[in-house]
Amino acid sequence: MAIRADAAHAVARPRDTDPEMGAAASRQDPARARQRPLPDPKPLTEHGPAHVIAMCNQKGGVGKTTSTINLGAALTEFGRKVLLIDLDPQGALSVGLGIPAQNMDRTIYNALMERRTTLRDVRVHTDIPGLDLVPSNIDLSAAEVQLVSEVAREQTLLRVLADVRDEYDYILIDCQPSLGLLTVNALTAAQGVMIPLECEFFSLRGVALLVDTIDKVKERLNPQLEISGILATMYDARTVHCKEVFSRVVEAFGDTVFQTVIQRTVRFPETTVAGQPITTWAPTSSGAAAYRDLAKEVIAL
Ligand SMILES: Nc1ncnc2c1ncn2[C@@H]1O[C@H](COP(=O)(O)OP(=O)(O)O)[C@@H](O)[C@H]1O
Ligand SMILES: [Mg+2]
Repeated sequence: MAIRADAAHAVARPRDTDPEMGAAASRQDPARARQRPLPDPKPLTEHGPAHVIAMCNQKGGVGKTTSTINLGAALTEFGRKVLLIDLDPQGALSVGLGIPAQNMDRTIYNALMERRTTLRDVRVHTDIPGLDLVPSNIDLSAAEVQLVSEVAREQTLLRVLADVRDEYDYILIDCQPSLGLLTVNALTAAQGVMIPLECEFFSLRGVALLVDTIDKVKERLNPQLEISGILATMYDARTVHCKEVFSRVVEAFGDTVFQTVIQRTVRFPETTVAGQPITTWAPTSSGAAAYRDLAKEVIAL
């Protein structure tokens, strides 16, 4: 899908609130109005090479990590082999899957910085069949500084991924909340960027800046990079504000916005404590169903 920075800037510009729009939005749910039946994914007979997607938004707390875990787990339910890469020194992705990364000696940091360490050496299996993880911990915070003096510093992750790419159908990279060198590495290694977006007005400004960065990386480092889609998270159809923001995002980005929206529910914070995806923690919940729908959309891309 085409990347449109102008659209991103337009959507972030404040405009007079239209009282009519508010009234209309309160009557109907714009997310539900866009829902169409999603085709069931075809089974695969062989695996790889992986399609690489960076989960990216420089704002924290918008659902990047939650979406990485749950989209990954949902993709495995459709027979896809998935590798998740934790590229945030906070290590929340690892924790969310019950992997005690804080105590691990070898993480993504070692694979990025040491020539003799490969992703095969640092990846671990999770409790979900078909779902592997490259963990991260606070060690990674040094990489941002250390990478600066490397040759082809933006391509470090791309180079490292080549080792495992043929084994997986999807590689999802959970980015940290910044547009620094690690995130640029993720964008350089990826074919797609998924932008989880919390449905509130101030989120929109960040998207404009993110789309600018994606444009620059596409132009200078990775011509194949596309926006896979914008994912509305923490959606609450009971608030007019949320529905208005969603309508505006759809107005600006059209089909680039996934039809699947992720509702706000306490089930997600619960899964973090459980160290499991929602698809196994609460398999019949609406949250699990939503990530399965998202997986169908991603497979159909
Ligand atoms: N749809 C949701 N509804 C309610 N809480 C959510 C939802 N998605 C994520 N959360 C919670 O919000 C917090 C931030 O989410 P997280 O995925 O860690 O964001 P990020 O990785 O962008 O910083 C976490 O505590 C998570 O459990
Ligand atoms: Mg995170």
